[in-house]
Amino acid sequence: MNDVVTVYEVGPRDGLQNESALIATQEKIDLVNRLVDAGLTRVEVSSFVSPKWVPQLADAADVFAGIQRKPGVVYAALAPNVKGLERAIGSDVNEVAIFGAASEEFSQKNINCSIAESIERFKPMMEMAKDADVPMRGYISCITDCPYSGPVKPSQVAILTEALLDLGCYSVSLGDTLGKATPKSTKSAVEAALSVAQASQLAGHFHDTSGQAIANIAVCLDAGIRVFDAAVGGLGGCPYAPGAKGNVATETVVAFLESQGLHTGVDASLLDDIAQYAQSLRAS
Ligand code: HMG
Ligand code: MG
Repeated sequence: MNDVVTVYEVGPRDGLQNESALIATQEKIDLVNRLVDAGLTRVEVSSFVSPKWVPQLADAADVFAGIQRKPGVVYAALAPNVKGLERAIGSDVNEVAIFGAASEEFSQKNINCSIAESIERFKPMMEMAKDADVPMRGYISCITDCPYSGPVKPSQVAILTEALLDLGCYSVSLGDTLGKATPKSTKSAVEAALSVAQASQLAGHFHDTSGQAIANIAVCLDAGIRVFDAAVGGLGGCPYAPGAKGNVATETVVAFLESQGLHTGVDASLLDDIAQYAQSLRAS
């Protein structure tokens, strides 16, 4: 069994995107630098989405310009369309994530198009990313439950996973956007994804609304998945997923994985302070 697990830090993006009070760019930069100092080697720094849709992350380019880059660290960002990808490449991102959904209703609310239209929208992005030598990650939101239409069929997860891999994503992150997944529904979604992908091509992305995220991560570990997204301090939520709470906290995931004899390379002793700092950004 592979005992090395990657914790993919999404706090600066997923953690902060839902905050209504604008957070200073320098504070976002400090958060990213501190996370990297704690040993996180993959950090989602921001999103190059429409500032009309997510005003909090309108300063994505400034955050990228301000961070202190360490060799070997992947500084990633989301992009929803060609315009976002151009901006991301202009900021010298190391990796970009496109994001689709297993639910039609969520796709419409989050990116203003159908699932089929989103796949068409991603195609020219993949070409552009290939030309720029930028690896692409793919997200699937609502792998088990949709805030607008309820339970999601596992077959939808298989369809989206296959579509994102066919487009050229090197990895697909399976998103429990609402934090409503249970170990049972997670298992069904993961099995569906595994019908079209290798475990090494998958990641788990759990929000922790119902306190089930760690149990769901355990299901993914049993299935061979070794990459998990998490946000320091448990910040987060999607502005287009009403009721969704924060991502599972990085410090909780690291402690859980290490307790299972797995290795993350993260210095857990630094995480509590960073979590407090992240929480203070929310409060200020
Ligand atoms: P739209 O309104 O259909 O797009 O939105 P549009 O092309 O008509 O553009 C509207 C305006 O935005 C135009 O400006 C564009 O230029 C501008 P105007 O002409 O009116 O002045 N615009 C942009 N500006 C900067 N960068 C861009 C960009 N694109 C358009 N990239 C769109 C469609 C996809 C753009 C919009 O729906 C959007 O940005 N959605 C993003 C929503 C979002 O960020 N959601 C949260 C992230 S996903 C998530 O959290 C889930 C995840 O964590 C996994 C999980 O938990 O499941 C990943
Ligand atoms: Mg999320």
